[in-house]
Amino acid sequence: MPTSSREGGRRSPAAISVQGLRKSYGEKTVLDGIDLHIPEGTVFALLGPNGAGKTTTVEILATLVRADDGRASVGGHDLAADPAGVRSVIGVTGQFAAVDELLTVQENLILMADLHHLGREEGRRRAAELLDRFELTEAAAQPGTALSGGMRRKADLAMTLMGDPRVIFLDEPTTGLDPRSRRTMWEIIRRLVDDQGVTILLTTQYLDEADELADRIAVLDGGKLVAEGTAEELKRRIPGGHIRVRFAEPEQLAAAVQVFEVAEADQESLTLHVPSDGSLPMLRSVIDLLDAASIEAAELSVHTPDLDDVFLALTGSSRRQADATTQLENVR
Ligand SMILES: Nc1ncnc2c1ncn2[C@@H]1O[C@H](COP(=O)(O)OP(=O)(O)OP(=O)(O)O)[C@@H](O)[C@H]1O
Ligand SMILES: [Mg+2]
Repeated sequence: MPTSSREGGRRSPAAISVQGLRKSYGEKTVLDGIDLHIPEGTVFALLGPNGAGKTTTVEILATLVRADDGRASVGGHDLAADPAGVRSVIGVTGQFAAVDELLTVQENLILMADLHHLGREEGRRRAAELLDRFELTEAAAQPGTALSGGMRRKADLAMTLMGDPRVIFLDEPTTGLDPRSRRTMWEIIRRLVDDQGVTILLTTQYLDEADELADRIAVLDGGKLVAEGTAEELKRRIPGGHIRVRFAEPEQLAAAVQVFEVAEADQESLTLHVPSDGSLPMLRSVIDLLDAASIEAAELSVHTPDLDDVFLALTGSSRRQADATTQLENVR
């Protein structure tokens, strides 16, 4: 029997729960102890550079690949003890579309209906409903080869939904899609969560996608989760944020430079960038320091880093976090 994590505990029930997940391929350690807690009815984005292990994580949780170590449960089913139970509640849309090229879109959907033993009537009903929802009705009779990349992605997700999964894994769901198709896909994904309460684990390299869709984001790098939180939390954690102060006169800028030693001044635009975590106390202290020195500012704005800053700061070689933290402490 599935042991729903609903009972007890102050944490919201987990649709996906992972502890100490490890996986190596030969000498290469791909996952070096991953922990995840993904509440029901939320979107979780796994972010990371090429080869970080995103697809591997999905493959393990979808029972396609066996982990070397660690525990996981999906939809209340233990991954090791009850893989069939896990398979009964999940849907997987892989990094590379699974649409059969020789079958039409409609036939692909009916094939999925048959795999899920939906029965002829129910299968046709659901196929028609999904074709309609994904605006694929006109393409229903076209073979897979005739689909554009965006249509293929949508058909792929429609196939996944034929099984009415409670937990959906989406491996780079919008890679290669044009901006409009990406938006459509985002709407479909968000509606699945908001209207039907499904849980989605998606992988992406698009930071704006994680920003737009995900309730929580984890950054995978070097086999470990190097950061986890909401988009806002992640942005606050990393360098790149600053308070921008513009002055009317060069003398004012020069005076401000004396006050804020760690700030960067731009003589041309008469602006000063003071490193900041974007918090109100920080903003207040900048204003107070200007006031105390009787320096008048023409304009003041707060720049919070975007997820690109987060990604670059947390993954690969450019870890400048320590430097920036020191800088912030100095300003305080
Ligand atoms: N079946 C396999 N055999 C050997 N090595 C593998 C296998 N599958 C994955 N790997 C290795 O594991 C590492 C992680 O691969 P994975 O596909 O999980 O990365 P990813 O984060 O999904 O990358 P991408 O952004 O390129 O899709 C890579 O170094 C890859 O070469
Ligand atoms: Mg991948």
